Amino acid sequence: MKVFASLKRGVPPEKILEDLVPVLKQIVPQALDRFGTSILQYSTPNKADFLGFVPLKEQIAKSLNIENPGRIIIGNGGMSVISWLVKLLQSFRPGSTEIAVEAATYDRFLQLCAALGYQVAGVHFGDEGGINTDHLEKVLLNSDVGLFYQNGHDQNPTGKRQILENVKAGAEICRKNNCLYLFDAPYRELHMERHETYLLPLDEEPFSECCIFAGSFTKTIAPGLHCGYIVVPEWMLPLINPRVACEQLNPVYFTQGIIAEAMIQEIYQDLTRRIRRDYVTPRALTFNIATADFLSGANWTPLEGGYFGYIQFPGMDGPGAMIAETRSLGLEIDSGRGSIAPDCHDHILRLGEPFRFPVVTNEPEIIMKAIGVMAKAWKEVRS
Ligand SMILES: Cc1ncc(COP(=O)(O)O)c(C=O)c1O
Repeated sequence: MKVFASLKRGVPPEKILEDLVPVLKQIVPQALDRFGTSILQYSTPNKADFLGFVPLKEQIAKSLNIENPGRIIIGNGGMSVISWLVKLLQSFRPGSTEIAVEAATYDRFLQLCAALGYQVAGVHFGDEGGINTDHLEKVLLNSDVGLFYQNGHDQNPTGKRQILENVKAGAEICRKNNCLYLFDAPYRELHMERHETYLLPLDEEPFSECCIFAGSFTKTIAPGLHCGYIVVPEWMLPLINPRVACEQLNPVYFTQGIIAEAMIQEIYQDLTRRIRRDYVTPRALTFNIATADFLSGANWTPLEGGYFGYIQFPGMDGPGAMIAETRSLGLEIDSGRGSIAPDCHDHILRLGEPFRFPVVTNEPEIIMKAIGVMAKAWKEVRS
């Protein structure tokens, strides 16, 4: 059967990108007018160097409410800046052998830890609004964890959100245990319109001391722009700068100039507002209602933003039969097992066999059809 949708990876709906084309046609010449050759040259004093394009740093600092834009390092995508940081962990926390993550987390981050030879320690989710902080404390006390990675705001893959109190408590536990806290929040601005989001107080303790905040414009504008950043504590700068200097001679200033222009003109803020209003809300509502109707008995987190959902089916013996069954009905899906911290398999699987459910379209009919196929396949696999 012809495939009508693939839920294997989270990619922005095509319609979002189509709507972006006229916006970029307007902004690109304006960015060139404003910034001239500084977005074309290797570096320009006080404007552009290997750590990023200064006008964009200023805009990011304003949007995150932090005083010193010099704490921001901008590179080509969120994952790339995150990987510098993890590669440098021994400079920041010598002797650490483990990295802690949420029980289910961004799969590429798990792959990065494995590639760099770090053991991974999973931290259980709490009952509501974030991690189980008692479990985090226990994990940090009993091991050599140098870094806790949390997928902030709208979590990939589970769609769970954290409340600020929970984040603050987690950061405090990290500080107390001499552990860095990496809060990766590429979906921060894509929360549902009816939900207020919050800013981490990055200039205040414990965040100013132990927290690295990561963000990306990949999902809030477009993957093709490929731009991401980290905000690091000031003490980290002399350790991290020489490494970045040899990783990137110059990042893509051209992209950074376009984003800075969009932010200066507040077009970026309009774009994310539009995504929240026009896309996230109908997608999420469809997802909530349809899931409740068709998939009662399955476990899932109501989507409140971002692009990710995670559906778990109790009583299933591995993911293979479900993947084959949905494929025969024209839907490609992927197992959610690749996102689980190895020591948390039982903790996650107690709620059922997990599958990724990224929202790759804003068309309710396709989402409804996909959910219908999931329900049908689940019934088939159970019988
Ligand atoms: C949680 C998370 N962090 C980081 C990234 C990577 O962002 P980028 O595409 O900017 O490298 C993604 C991309 O899907 C993500 O889901």
